[in-house]
Amino acid sequence: MAKTFKYVIVGGGVAAGYAAREFAKQGVKPGELAIISKEAVAPYERPALSKAYLFPESPARLPGFHVCVGSGGERLLPEWYTEKGIELILSTEIVKADLAAKSLISAAGETFSYQTLIIATGSTVIRLTDFGVEGAEAKNIFYLREVDDADKLYEAIKAKKNGKAVVVGGGYIGLELSAVLKLNNIDVTMVYPEPWCMPRLFTAGIAAFYEGYYANKGINIIKGTVAVGFTSNSDGEVKEVKLKDGRVLEADIVVVGVGGRPQTALFKGQVEEEKGGIKTDSFFKTNLSDVYAVGDVATFPLKLYGELRRVEHVDHARKSAEQAVKAIKAAEDGKTVEEYDYLPYFYSRAFDLSWQFYGDNVGDTVLFGDSNPASPKPKFGSYWIKDGKVVGVFLESGTPEENSAIAKVARVQPPVADVEQLAKEGLSFASKI
Ligand code: FDA
Ligand code: NAD
Repeated sequence: MAKTFKYVIVGGGVAAGYAAREFAKQGVKPGELAIISKEAVAPYERPALSKAYLFPESPARLPGFHVCVGSGGERLLPEWYTEKGIELILSTEIVKADLAAKSLISAAGETFSYQTLIIATGSTVIRLTDFGVEGAEAKNIFYLREVDDADKLYEAIKAKKNGKAVVVGGGYIGLELSAVLKLNNIDVTMVYPEPWCMPRLFTAGIAAFYEGYYANKGINIIKGTVAVGFTSNSDGEVKEVKLKDGRVLEADIVVVGVGGRPQTALFKGQVEEEKGGIKTDSFFKTNLSDVYAVGDVATFPLKLYGELRRVEHVDHARKSAEQAVKAIKAAEDGKTVEEYDYLPYFYSRAFDLSWQFYGDNVGDTVLFGDSNPASPKPKFGSYWIKDGKVVGVFLESGTPEENSAIAKVARVQPPVADVEQLAKEGLSFASKI
């Protein structure tokens, strides 16, 4: 017998949690909504896993960081779902979806049917075994996506006290994990193929600051090469990392952060896709009128730039989920909501550093402020200028007011007459807008 719900959210991550809160706000009757999640715990703020979860002292643990604390909201404990009559179906992986029949089947063979489905399956990590790197299945090679992964890494950090780690990848995971491993007194070497870290967002000038800062913390950085193989000891634990340039690094722990990919496989051929994600409109509705997609899996119209985009960051996961639920509930009353008009916002924290970015990182760039990694209080940023207008702003170590100011600049897109003047004005340009 199928379990039947009016609304089913498949996936129990950030977007699912914020969607549940919005359903409760809009009014949902007991028994109408179910969240089905592969994870064993209620939705939580995933960004904590690469930061406070791995701190050597007083690490963050659940239930401390269930949604919606990451955006200053109420913490939704498992009891909250029970009180609202929202069914949390945990440790349950959906292995088959039939969108025509409106049914989902779990690994244990249970069937769930729905009237409206919200796809919130997020991303999965790209593994080195996916492209056949020799020895990549050795023990103590870690990836980080879910709380279970973080627990395994935490145990290894404790077991390999004062040991050596190689971090493969120079993106978000690479930079955040290198910092937290170093805080645990692990000797860290980062390896990445590009000429500078986080090339997806950072300019050479921005990256030079972080690379210098990390080097001053004692982190070794090897650029322009990749890991091509691993050797392990008789227990199957990783011991060495072989690089393409011929170097061999010792390692007790390897952390890999070579990117993510949206989890859309369940729905292949059943729903329209675009740019690697599930294509939606401004209300996160797919080409099927009863199926929505939110968070990392959604490719949606980014109104500000007039194009379809996918965004793999937490702010969008939260906001897209809220938008979808508002749209679903409004449609039931024959109403509509305003189109999603998103301003991209990404952030990261590592050591004592904290940056924010708003807008689009296209066009010419201008670096401003003090980006000397040896400064006692570095504060710097970058503007991106396209067609004579500022379209993106990055700021390291901004105050809340300064971060609001750069967000406003990215939204308003003020014209720039003189780029040299902009570099001189730096942050004061943003404060005037
Ligand atoms: P999310 O990944 O949160 O949730 C997906 C859920 O679906 C998971 O519970 C998964 O188990 C479940 N699922 C998948 N397939 C399933 C199936 N077949 N059956 C049942 N359940 C299934 N962003 C940012 O802006 N700032 C930051 O500092 C960070 N930090 C950060 C750290 C780490 C370690 C990670 C991995 C990611 C970040 N991010 C981030 C990115 C951010 O966390 C991410 O964009 C959101 O979590 C996306 O939310 P979703 O709900 O779309 O997916
Ligand atoms: P990423 O795309 O940020 O970085 C991947 C890095 O690995 C890039 O520098 C890439 O060139 C490099 N790389 C690719 N192949 C390689 C190889 N064979 N050897 C060495 N390096 C290689 O992805 P990520 O850091 O793995 O993050 C995964 C997901 O988690 C993303 O969706 C990301 O947005 C999210 N995340 C976000 C944050 C944040 O927003 N602060 C923090 C952590 C994770």
